[in-house]
Amino acid sequence: MKIESALIIGSGTMGRGIAQVAATAGLVTYVHDVNAEQVKKALAEIEKSLGKLVEKGKLPADTAASAKANLKTVGSLDEINWPKVGIVIEAIYENFDAKVSLYKQVHDKLPAGAILASNTSSISITKLAAATNRPAQFIGMHFFNPVPLMTLVEVIRGLQTDDATVSAVEALAKQMGKNPLRCHDMPGFVSNRVLMPMINEAAFALMEGVADAPTIDEIMKQGCNFPMGPLTLADFIGVDVCLNILEVLHKDLGDPKFRPCPLLRKMVDAGWLGRKSGRGFHQY
Ligand code: CAA
Repeated sequence: MKIESALIIGSGTMGRGIAQVAATAGLVTYVHDVNAEQVKKALAEIEKSLGKLVEKGKLPADTAASAKANLKTVGSLDEINWPKVGIVIEAIYENFDAKVSLYKQVHDKLPAGAILASNTSSISITKLAAATNRPAQFIGMHFFNPVPLMTLVEVIRGLQTDDATVSAVEALAKQMGKNPLRCHDMPGFVSNRVLMPMINEAAFALMEGVADAPTIDEIMKQGCNFPMGPLTLADFIGVDVCLNILEVLHKDLGDPKFRPCPLLRKMVDAGWLGRKSGRGFHQY
């Protein structure tokens, strides 16, 4: 089944990026958020991003114009043409109960066979799937920030996900200009299971005075050819998000190697969440 229309729920950094690439790929793209102000801001950010890509010659101007025309912000779920929706991609905050309550509002409205996907970076796909009326059509579709620039989509198969859903989501990711790579449903999947211990260790190195934050970042940038140092990346992702993912890894894998660095906890307590709060490991 070719997916022609998508509903993106959540218009934060990830949701708006996903909406942008879906609309650019030619899908009629509904964007919904409980926060109307946030949706307005998202639309402005998407237009800015599309403009930048055109300016740099990475996107033809007419494709950007049709992407804008494909985007439909909806204040209420009743404004959606449900029979046409082939996929819902949920990108709200990382809370199991909030996600499940949202799925319960949409799963009965979706046509048979339509897919429910979550952009979660840490919650079990199998457990989320089990709370919906379509566990076989439930899947993890994990995008990376900034979505318009990052090519990977981690496709996470829950225990119940069927083959047709995996194939449809891979085809959709390719249509969005992304490279889908499959993995199984385990805490942190692949990306965060490998990335978060590095960020955590960088925080330990800072806490123990091995070097200051700019030096740790420069060593990893220049020594390992990373585009951003691990502490800059933590600020970019959100220090609170990193702490939350580490807590999931620690609890669900039960291995002490994932214990979150106390400095991360202290920073979250202080509201030093990274770029979004103006201060994290660095000042913005
Ligand atoms: N749309 C359009 N343009 C954008 C953009 C967007 N959304 N975001 C940034 N840009 C632009 C910048 O404004 C900049 O434009 P100018 O050149 O005009 O200033 C340009 O892209 C690129 O900026 P840089 O010159 O800084 O380029 P770069 O080559 O360093 O690329 C980057 C930027 C892609 C963000 C790169 O630094 C990078 O790859 N960083 C690591 C990102 C990363 O690891 N992301 C994954 C985080 S983990 C995650 O998302 C998942 C999770 O579960 C936590």
